[in-house]
Amino acid sequence: MPNDHEPALTPLWTSQEIAVRVTLIAEEIDRDYSDTAPVLIGALKGAFIFLADLMRKIQTPVEVEFMRVSSYESGTESSGEVQVDWGPTGDAIGGRHIIVVEDIIDTGITTTAVVEYLKQFAPSSIRICTLLDRPERRIVEIEPDYTGFNFSDYFVVGYGLDLDQKYRQLPGIHGLATNT
Ligand code: IMP
Ligand code: MG
Repeated sequence: MPNDHEPALTPLWTSQEIAVRVTLIAEEIDRDYSDTAPVLIGALKGAFIFLADLMRKIQTPVEVEFMRVSSYESGTESSGEVQVDWGPTGDAIGGRHIIVVEDIIDTGITTTAVVEYLKQFAPSSIRICTLLDRPERRIVEIEPDYTGFNFSDYFVVGYGLDLDQKYRQLPGIHGLATNT
């Protein structure tokens, strides 16, 4: 039960609305990769639900790998420092077509670090797919190739996204009302 200590959640996109968008992205990927099997690389933890739903809507054969990147220290503010804890290496991605699957691109620092990490293993191509994009907050210039929803307000939770590891289990995406 919500109480005084829990932030108010504003529903932004329902699970049904997300499913429609995910299906459309999968269709775009099918068109773009009809003659090659790309490797989806999920950025943990936030992208795991999006990745699982997206992968099951893609008809083209795909493979999957995971990366663990730490960015947010705690709460809603980024530390600005990103660390690749672990990820796939040359065997899995060298010479392959890569699609990085992100939960959200905010400042762009995390996704840029992911792309730089992957480049060292000489993949044939790298594209970026993100469920959510908040372009107004960009610090590092980076453009996703596939985007679920653009927005500008709110820190968001649900559908894999967290606030201090909470709320990932919510089926839809919700905005946290800020008190500022
Ligand atoms: P960036 O490096 O600033 O682009 O931030 C990317 C990472 O920060 C994402 O992968 C998320 O883990 C986290 N993040 C940024 N904005 C939000 C948000 O609104 N809700 C939950 N996590 C977020
Ligand atoms: Mg997070």
